Amino acid sequence: MRRSLVTGGAGFIGSNFVRHLLSMTDDSVTVLDKLTYAGSQATVEGLDPRRVSVVRGDIADASLVDGLVRDHDLVVHFAAETHNDNSLRDPAPFVHSNIVGTYTLLEAVRKHETRFHHVSTDEVYGDLELDDPSRFTEKTAYNPSSPYSSTKAASDLLVRAWVRSFGVRATISNCSNNYGPYQHVEKFIPRQITNVLSGRRPRLYGDGQNVRDWIHTEDHSSAVLAVIERGEIGETYLVGADGERSNIDIVRILLRLLDQPETSFDLVRDRVGHDRRYAIDSSRIQSELGWTPRFVDLEAGLADTVEWYKDHAAWWRPGKASVEALYGAAGQ
Ligand code: NAD
Ligand code: DAU
Repeated sequence: MRRSLVTGGAGFIGSNFVRHLLSMTDDSVTVLDKLTYAGSQATVEGLDPRRVSVVRGDIADASLVDGLVRDHDLVVHFAAETHNDNSLRDPAPFVHSNIVGTYTLLEAVRKHETRFHHVSTDEVYGDLELDDPSRFTEKTAYNPSSPYSSTKAASDLLVRAWVRSFGVRATISNCSNNYGPYQHVEKFIPRQITNVLSGRRPRLYGDGQNVRDWIHTEDHSSAVLAVIERGEIGETYLVGADGERSNIDIVRILLRLLDQPETSFDLVRDRVGHDRRYAIDSSRIQSELGWTPRFVDLEAGLADTVEWYKDHAAWWRPGKASVEALYGAAGQ
């Protein structure tokens, strides 16, 4: 039985991945998570205690990480500071968790010769113009815009260097915008759903025309597992599901699903340095690893997500007021 260590497994994508891993494999799983504002015990509640244990700790704690990596066969690395707006307010935790944390894990997997998968983002490639027909591929040059995306880019480059210089057995995946259950209310889709559920209006940055390439988190999980099982060591795979939509289109869909008029939103102050558009060409992972996304009906996926937030108010409501206070202070 494989022993998997999942960093950031009490956050949005990490916890969905742990559920996927438990259903698709016989792995025993240790979650290593600092339980920052973005991760919580409630997110991993209900997981089979015979197969899952949760360790609260920092991926930049070298002795904790060394002991855990020594006792596992695989490390799947999701833990990170992940919100662009937060990185504009205070970049320090992003440098700590995303760069120093990844470095700390790499030193441990190097020492113990452990298989490592690094979960990253399409934001390392910067952005595209709205009318640009091209999409990101594995060959696109790195050009990150924000403190968040630059620290993720740095972490990817560390992984590549540890592969080449030290023979670490690592792979990397760079995925587009995820949506689905357990996403923090600071992020775009949960923020708008929970705004409406709290009697507020959705808030669109700038002109609302920025485009994101949405993928259901379950498809991200199956892609990460495909790379772990069939990916080539040292290689990078882009993950996306052809889900390009403007932010304003997403808000209109959500308003319809929540029985509100489609014009019932506010345009607010734009994000500084706001990336215009992301778009992923996922042909490599599809042709080489045989992965395909299953949740390609975005409207159906959003309808399920709206229902999930309606049913899980006890999960999201405790964090909502503090998030809105921060946004309010920024005029957003
Ligand atoms: P999240 O913010 O919901 O969860 C991050 C988790 O990491 C939290 O549980 C947090 O407590 C934990 N964490 C943060 N710093 C830590 C530290 N120093 N030590 C241990 N744990 C720490 O993030 P998410 O959206 O689930 O993203 C997970 C990963 O996927 C990140 O690496 C992110 O860059 C990547 N990613 C996210 C998206 C997306 O759309 N959200 C898309 C592509 C890639
Ligand atoms: O592309 C992958 C990335 O997607 C991940 O690496 C990041 O961790 C994840 O947070 C996400 O980054 P974005 O900045 O694209 O996501 P966010 O949910 O913050 O915003 C999505 C879009 O919606 C973006 O264009 C900003 C806009 N937005 C966001 C919020 C919170 C609004 O218009 N209004 C809002 O209230």
